[in-house]
Amino acid sequence: MKRGNRTVITEFLLLGLPVDPNHQDLLYVLFLVMYLTTVLGNLIIIILIGLDSHLHTPMYLFLSNLSFSDLCFSSVTIPKMLQNMQSQVPAIPYAGCLTQMYFFLLFADLESFLLVAMAYDRYVAICFPLHYTSIMSPKLCLCLVSLSWVLTTIISSLHTLLMARLSFCADNVIPHFFCDMSALLKLACSDIQINEIMIFILGGLVIIVPFLLIFLSYAHIVSSILKVPSARGIRKAFSTCGSHLSVVSLFYGTIIGLYLCPSTNNSTVKETVMAVMYTVVTPMLNPFIYSLRNQDIKGALGRVFSKHIIHFSLQ
Ligand SMILES: *[C@@H]1O[C@H](CO)[C@@H](O)[C@H](O)[C@H]1NC(C)=O
Repeated sequence: MKRGNRTVITEFLLLGLPVDPNHQDLLYVLFLVMYLTTVLGNLIIIILIGLDSHLHTPMYLFLSNLSFSDLCFSSVTIPKMLQNMQSQVPAIPYAGCLTQMYFFLLFADLESFLLVAMAYDRYVAICFPLHYTSIMSPKLCLCLVSLSWVLTTIISSLHTLLMARLSFCADNVIPHFFCDMSALLKLACSDIQINEIMIFILGGLVIIVPFLLIFLSYAHIVSSILKVPSARGIRKAFSTCGSHLSVVSLFYGTIIGLYLCPSTNNSTVKETVMAVMYTVVTPMLNPFIYSLRNQDIKGALGRVFSKHIIHFSLQ
């Protein structure tokens, strides 16, 4: 390896969203509002589930973990993007870029694994209602959550280490609003074959395998409902699985839209819109999907509020 006349890159430039500078202020406000909504919505879910003992069931503990993951996931990219929109030189140091990539992958993959755990929980609840509490024990829940963390830590560390061994030469401009793995690979001037192979294999592990497992769970759920079709059974299944299915569709809909739909001639715009979808919109919508039509969450909101407001007013 020759290391002679190579310029060492110490920072990258994040170009941000490809928009007209005149619209920059409007977008800044829009993203700020969306980010604050995400933080607030997910925090409320976490606090409600923590405070209300009626919600200490596997489904809501997983949901609380999912909200935590959403909160962290959007905090990895949006604050830096907002800061860059306001600065003249939208730079990010080399180490900062790799750190951002690590945490981006960590929380994205965690979300994927948690959705599988939640699908399994719904499968047990619908197909084995009598054994639900003995199967979904606190121990199993903790195991599933820990396994998700272990897997996602290994996967994102691996990607980050493989990225860290690449060298970057002259070009340090990332045409994106965060340090996206594929955008970084395009700038590398060493051999990226191992990185691409690992993205292919691990990408399958965190996208295809969870998708198949979720699909399998729902196939069992649907077939068990069809075996004894009753209006009550269908309503019950919809009310307990509807929110999860919506979140799953949002998550995989974006991925499928990004990778499987034929690319239009303007692929940068499409990629950016999709990236905004999964970094900004999905984490913001998840708490609302779970709260809007959910009587448990609404009940908990009422209980926690009245309890604490009475508590405060009596002091
Ligand atoms: C995540 O799930 C585990 C296992 O069910 C639970 O003990 C823990 O409190 C949850 N964490 C959060 C932040 O909700």
